[in-house]
Amino acid sequence: MLIIRHTEARAVLADPAYVPPPVRQDGAEGTLAWLRAQVSRFSTGETHAGRRRVLTELLAGLEPAELRRAATAMTVERDGDWHGVPTAVLASALGVEDSALLADAVPAAASGYLSGEETPEADAAVARLLTLAGVPVITLLLQGYAATEGLIEAALRHGGPGDDPEALLYETLRHDPPLRATRRLDTRTGETVTIDLVAANRDPGVFADPERFDLARGCGPHLTFGSGIRPCPAPGHALALAAGVLDAVLAPHRTPPRPR
Ligand code: HEM
Repeated sequence: MLIIRHTEARAVLADPAYVPPPVRQDGAEGTLAWLRAQVSRFSTGETHAGRRRVLTELLAGLEPAELRRAATAMTVERDGDWHGVPTAVLASALGVEDSALLADAVPAAASGYLSGEETPEADAAVARLLTLAGVPVITLLLQGYAATEGLIEAALRHGGPGDDPEALLYETLRHDPPLRATRRLDTRTGETVTIDLVAANRDPGVFADPERFDLARGCGPHLTFGSGIRPCPAPGHALALAAGVLDAVLAPHRTPPRPR
């Protein structure tokens, strides 16, 4: 089933009868499959609540304003080449400083983390990350990586020098979300439900003139950070990291980022 309406999407995300599609539990220790079986994102019930609590406690120790300042400073230091900055700043705040290892291993492991695609490269990346940090920190780095970089890329497509970073990020999250859908399993029927976040964020019953990219809209009830039982626990951190990069890249006196 495909859900496109905002109200129905929120109802499914708030209903414990809908759970993330289960992941296999028999992966060899230290592999991507093993990691996916350990994390909050793919677990349910009490297990999910306990694992999520560990993450929210870790996140509570990080100051979004400090993440933002650090992301700006690192982007300026790298002459506008911001790719990898959100991960490096988040990792450093979590006590992990090996930026060369992170720059390779986080993208390599993150690609399969959400999709479940198991490759030798992803397994090797997970093994390398486990030499640096435990599962909760790795979870935060892998969850944050693609969505935060995707948000910055989309914001830079929509905005330009002089735009207010927050306004640009809010409307980009609604109009052009880096995470475009999420899935649930209906435990009563066995049916898989796909929630189309792009469609829900453009529901005309909730957003006036929804197709229009409008910087004046502010932070409305978009569903890009999820909702209900297991929303993103780090929207403030994600926004701070992205805004810090934009502070550097969109400042009128700075040069645009180097093309890659
Ligand atoms: C623009 C950036 C981000 C977006 C759009 C985003 C979005 C989301 C969404 C939609 C979910 C829920 C998925 C679902 O309900 O199926 C989620 C979960 C999660 N996100 Fe984010 N996220 C972002 C950045 C981050 C960052 C930077 C971190 C870490 C600091 C993070 C950590 C997590 C974690 C740990 C979960 C799993 C929560 C749980 O299992 O209860 N996210 N995110």
